[in-house]
Amino acid sequence: MADLLCGQVLSFSGDPFEMGEAAARHLAQGAVLIDQGKVVAVGDASALRAAHPLAKLHDYGRALISAGFIDAHVHYPQTAIIASWGKRLIDWLNLYTFPEEMRFCDPAYAKDIAERYLDLITARGTTTVCSYATIHPASVDAIFTAAQTRGMRLYAGKTCMDRNAPEGLRDTPQRAYDESKALLNRWDGVDRLSYVITPRFSPTSTPEQLAALGGLWAEYPDCLMQTHLSEQTDEIEWVHALHPQARDYLDTYETQGLLREGALYGHAIHLTEREKARLIEAGASLVHCPTSNTFIGSGLFDMGLARHLRVGLATDTGGGSNFSMLHTMAAAYEVAQLRGQSLHPAQLWWLATQGSARALRAEERIGNIAPGMEADLVVVDLVSTPAIEQATRRAETIWQQIFPTIMMGDDRAIAATWINGRKL
Ligand code: GUN
Ligand code: ZN
Repeated sequence: MADLLCGQVLSFSGDPFEMGEAAARHLAQGAVLIDQGKVVAVGDASALRAAHPLAKLHDYGRALISAGFIDAHVHYPQTAIIASWGKRLIDWLNLYTFPEEMRFCDPAYAKDIAERYLDLITARGTTTVCSYATIHPASVDAIFTAAQTRGMRLYAGKTCMDRNAPEGLRDTPQRAYDESKALLNRWDGVDRLSYVITPRFSPTSTPEQLAALGGLWAEYPDCLMQTHLSEQTDEIEWVHALHPQARDYLDTYETQGLLREGALYGHAIHLTEREKARLIEAGASLVHCPTSNTFIGSGLFDMGLARHLRVGLATDTGGGSNFSMLHTMAAAYEVAQLRGQSLHPAQLWWLATQGSARALRAEERIGNIAPGMEADLVVVDLVSTPAIEQATRRAETIWQQIFPTIMMGDDRAIAATWINGRKL
C-alpha cells in the first residue's frame, strides 16, 4: 500500500552553489507519495490526497519532509571512542583509534558496534553513510549485514594498512588486494550495498599496497575508492618523508591509479594549487568533515571548491565529535564563516543531501525527493525545543524557519526517519 506523507516539503532542482536559493523547491503544504520503496509523486497536499484516497496518510503538520541525510565519510568502528580528549591526528590515531580498531578482530564486537552505530545515526535522520571498516573482513560483513537488515543504502570497505600501524592492524599488499576483492564480490550490488576500495591513507600504506589497490580499482572501475588527503600539516610532512618520490600528497595516490572519477578524498584542507587543479581535472570528490576538522584541530576547508568539484558533507565519526548531520551543517557554517564565506541554509541542506549523494555518484537514486528516487526521507520538527521555537517566531521565509534547527537542532528535531519506503 502507498503512503502519503504530508508537511512542508523541501527538495532541489539544481545546485545552490550555482543558483543560490532558487535551486530549492519548497512546498508549504506539500506531500510525498511513496510506494514500494520509491517516491511516486511530490506536490500539493490536497491534490495528492484527492488523487490517492487509498494511500495511508501520515500528517506531519508543519514539520519539514526532506531527503534523508547522507554522511559521506565515517568510521563506524570509532563509535565508542567519539569525543576522546586532547590529541591531534597522529597521536589520536595511535592512542585512541588503533586500540579500538583492534577490538574488531572479534566479530561479535563488530556486530554490536555496527548495530549501535546504525541505531544512533538513523535516530538523527541519516539514511546513508559511506564508512571505513577496520582491517578485519568481519568488520565489513558486520556493517553490511546490519544495513541490509534495515534496508539501508550503505557504502563501506575494508580499511587497508601495511605499515605504521600496530601488529594486528596490518595486512600486506597481496592480502589487502585479496581480502578487498573477496568482500567486493560478496557484497557489492547486493540489495542496496556498495563496496568501496579503502586504503586508509598514504602514511599507513606502502606504494606497493596503494598500487595493489589501484590495480583492483582498475578491475572494478564502477566502484568508489575512498581515502584521506591533506588533513593536518604534520601528516603532510610525514607523507613527504615516507613517499620522497611524490610531487605532493595527491601524487602518492595519482601515481598508483587512485585518482579519477569515483575517488572520495576526506578532509582535503591543505591543498597545493597543483593538487586542486588535478582534483578538478580528474572529476574527484572531496568530503568536508567540519566537526572533525575543528575537534582534531586540522584546519578550515575551502568551500569555494564546491563550485568546481563534487563536495560532500560528513561527520567523520569518531574524529568528528557528533553523529548528527544537523550539527555537522552548523559546523560547516561556522568553518566557512571563519574563512569569510557565509553559506546559505539551502547550501548547507543541499550539502547534507544532494551534495553528499553527488560525491558518492548516487544523485540519481538518493539525496533528493523526486519521482523515481528511493524513498529515504527525514521528517524534521522545526520547533523541537523552546529555544528553537522562540527563534523561529518571526520567520518570514522557510530558510528563517530552518536555520535555527540547523544551528541548534539535535535528535529531538527528528520526527521520523523513513528508509526504503518504510518508517523506522
Ligand atoms: N586519517 C587516517 N585515518 C584517519 C581516521 O581514522 N580519522 C581521521 N580523522 N583521519 C584519518
Ligand atoms: Zn576519516
